[in-house]
Formats: sequence, C-alpha cells, structure tokens
Amino acid sequence: MASHLPWLAEKLEELRSQHLLRARRTVTPLPDGWCLVDGRRLRNFASNDYLNLAHDERLRAAARETLDQAGVGSRASALVSGRTDWHERLEQRLARFEGQPAALLFPTGYAANLGTISALVEPDDVIFCDRLNHASLVDGCRLSGARLRVYRHTRLENLRRELQKCPARRRWIVTDTVFSMDGDLAPLPELCELSERYEAPLIIDEAHGTGVFGPSGRGVAEWQGVEDRVAVRVGTLSKAVGCLGGFVSGPTELVDWLWNRARTQVYSTALPPSVCAAACRAIDIIEDEPQRRERLLAASATFRQMLHAAGIETIASAAGPIVPVLLHQPDRATQVAAEVERRGFFVAAIRPPTVPRGTSRLRITLTAAHSRDDLQQLADTLAEVIGSDHAPSEASQP
Ligand SMILES: Cc1ncc(COP(=O)(O)O)c(C=O)c1O
Repeated sequence: MASHLPWLAEKLEELRSQHLLRARRTVTPLPDGWCLVDGRRLRNFASNDYLNLAHDERLRAAARETLDQAGVGSRASALVSGRTDWHERLEQRLARFEGQPAALLFPTGYAANLGTISALVEPDDVIFCDRLNHASLVDGCRLSGARLRVYRHTRLENLRRELQKCPARRRWIVTDTVFSMDGDLAPLPELCELSERYEAPLIIDEAHGTGVFGPSGRGVAEWQGVEDRVAVRVGTLSKAVGCLGGFVSGPTELVDWLWNRARTQVYSTALPPSVCAAACRAIDIIEDEPQRRERLLAASATFRQMLHAAGIETIASAAGPIVPVLLHQPDRATQVAAEVERRGFFVAAIRPPTVPRGTSRLRITLTAAHSRDDLQQLADTLAEVIGSDHAPSEASQP
C-alpha cells in the first residue's frame, strides 16, 4: 500500500543511523521480579514495581473481586458517571495516606502532571523547571502557555538568580522529587526556601518517591521533612503502588479546582474500578509493611557499592532503587544491554531524547523481589561486559 506519509521512512532511517531507533519488544511479566522476553526467562531489572506489589496476591484478589462486581471499563469520565464507589474510596484512602484533606485521581501520572500544571499556571506566569524534569512536567509547563525557564539540574544558585530578576505576576517552581533517569533526589528544603522567599509555589512530582522514601512511604517530601511547605503534590499509582493512575493530594480548594479544570481528567475515561480496589490494598500494604522499602533502600546502597568496587561508572549523587550505569554513546548502551540480556538480565538502554546527548546509559531498577545474589550476579556480569569490548550484532539489541 502506498504511504500517505512518505517522509517518515527517511526520518526513521535517520534515527537508525544514529542508533536512536527504538525497538518494540514484548515482555511478559512473571511473579517475583522475573519476565519472559523472546521465549527466555530473565531477571527483570527494568521495572518500576519497586515494592514487588504488581503481582501480589492481595492486590490481585481485590482487583478480581471488583472486576466481578463492576466489570472491566469505567464507562465514562469521572465527571460524567465514571466515578464509582471504588474511586471515591481510593481518593479518601490516598488523602489519609498523604495526610491531606483531599485527593483527586487521574487516568495516569502523565495525565496528572499535564492536567494539574496546565490548570493552575496561567499564560502571564513564569515557571522554573529543573532541566532533568520528567517529560510530563515539561509538557504541562508548555501547555500552560506560561514562560518556561529551565535551570541547571539541582543548581539552585542559578534558580535563585533567575527568581530574583523575574518580575512576573506569579512564579512557580516545578520539580521531580526523584529524577527518573538519574535516580538522584531534588534538594527540597532548599527549593522550599526559595519558594517561600520569592512567593513561588512549589509543585512536586513524587512518581518515584511514593512508597519508597519516607518513614510512612509518602515520598521524598516526607523523608526530607518539608511536606507542609509544598504547594502541590502529584503522585502515580503505576510504580511502587504496582497499579495504574495518577493523583494529586492537597487542600479541598485545590482538588475542587482540578476537578473542574484539569482537562486530562475532565475529558478522559476514569480508571477501571478494579484498579482502584487494587491500589487501595497496595496503600494499606505500603503503610503496614515498611520493611519492604527499608530492605529496598539497603539493597540499593549495597548494589551501588558493588558497582563502585567493580569500577563501573554510575551517578554519584543518586540514591534509591534507580541505578544508572553511564555508557555515554547510544550504540554502546544498546550493545551492553543486549549482551547483559544474553546473560540472563533484562535492563533498559536509555538514549536521547530521553536523556541528554552523551549520557546514554543503562537504567537499572531494583525491586523488593531481588536478592543479594541477584545483585552480585548482575554487578559481576556488568563488570565483565563493560570491561570487555564485547559488541554483539545490532539485531539482538533492544
Ligand atoms: C517522574 C515521572 N513522572 C510521571 C511519570 C508518569 O507516570 P505514569 O507512568 O503513571 O503515567 C513518570 C513515568 O515514567 C515519571 O517517571
């Protein structure tokens, strides 16, 4: 069939020649941190299921029971008729968990960031955004129509100077709390100080913080003791919570405003009720089983030491279960990922535009399912593969 978009083939070829073409792979998740890829059972180090909850029998039982009662889809947007009893219960559960008066669900974390920022920030405002913020924050900033000022990653002198000389009617600061590709944490106390000094409300995205950091698992803001100083908290249910969906927690007027004005939840079908029931159960477990995150953080520190001992380049300031291994060039990242996969470990090769040029990497994620032996075996494998000049064929690359 003749293509109506003939220029795409050329553009794809351009991506291929730069080693930036992304393959579409099919991965079957298996319990306890395993997965099936191309018929092979691999140890999965490329999932965000940090607490190993996605396959937990208690979540599956909650989802199954609700599926039988409510069916599969939610049939409408929350505003029209899609907000069931299960949605209401999850919103109340999230508000209680977060220690906030109210919470609002979104179809995904991406939709939560996009909808929240574009509903709050106005075209006359200025937004200050960390250079490594997630795409959903950046896209929300762009959609708002406000002027966007990008500051160097966690370099707050740069941000302070920009805030000082910015005369806008309203200024905002937007940041990830855990940077998704580097795994390091935002300096929230310092950001709160700037937020207060320059009356620039702080919006944080706890996508990789929820369930992992903080004595109660509420995230980095809890861990760093600044929860009361943050204007807007966004989270996702798709990572440590093991489900799907995004949420915002905060004062009732914030939630009421987003209910009325956040287009990504107003104009999109609500989450399936079964997912809400499973997420409710996951929040109970996050509260009741702090040992999951404690073990995960201890294992993350151990794994970093193993890599350091093996002379593997990581990001020194990172903490927690996201462990980047820097390989710099995109072809090198895909070659190493393919060879590590051949040896039994599934890891993600991350290339531009997801990360800046020259910083292609493996993004290794640990979960509560991994044992110390798994970590040692992966560290040894990485040392062997990265230490050698092994270069498998392009065909086997992810
Ligand atoms: C920092 C950050 N925020 C938001 C999201 C989007 O969350 P979701 O996958 O629930 O759409 C992601 C997903 O990768 C993320 O890494």
